[in-house]
Amino acid sequence: MPHSLPRPKAGDIVTIGEERIRVIHDEEQIAARVLELAREVAASEPRDLLVVPVLKGSFIFAADLLRAFYRVGLLTEVDFMILASYGAGTTSSGQVRVLRDIETEVRDRDVLVVEDILETGRTLAAARDLLRARGARRAMTAVLLDKKVPRAANVEADFAGFTCPDVFVVGYGMDKAHAYRELPFIGEILPAE
Ligand code: PRP
Repeated sequence: MPHSLPRPKAGDIVTIGEERIRVIHDEEQIAARVLELAREVAASEPRDLLVVPVLKGSFIFAADLLRAFYRVGLLTEVDFMILASYGAGTTSSGQVRVLRDIETEVRDRDVLVVEDILETGRTLAAARDLLRARGARRAMTAVLLDKKVPRAANVEADFAGFTCPDVFVVGYGMDKAHAYRELPFIGEILPAE
């Protein structure tokens, strides 16, 4: 049997796999903020709300947010989109391509695009603009982390969980080379000692 892995608190530094990771937001903090976010979204009185998580990074946040919506009395539907960004962070075009589209009609509905993290904004803007172009009544955006870096697209989150420092973050859906998505907390990868 493998020994159990740590359930650290904010500020703790843990070694997982090859990496030292400093916990930025622990499980309890995330759960509390996600519930607050659900209340904020509900207070905007969405009608016929379709939630559209942009995969893969958003899958844990979206799953928790959807259940928080239920707890605050907001009933929703969900459909998923997978987007891939080319050239983000490089000098190339930064075009976003749809790898998997939703199957749901959005005309005259309120939609909420859900992302784990907002950085250049290319991904969030692409999803929002696509749903707007299809006739969504209101196309809103929710992100768990708002990284304050220069945007390459004209977008801000309507609902944001936490402001994020400009560091490499993993956990709670976010990865480094496909690892660490399963961490129940959000952490910063620290440089090797
Ligand atoms: C990450 C993240 C957002 C996007 C944010 O996705 O999940 O979708 O980047 O960056 P932006 O604001 O600069 O567009 P990634 O491309 O790593 O794919 P993944 O979600 O499948 O991990």
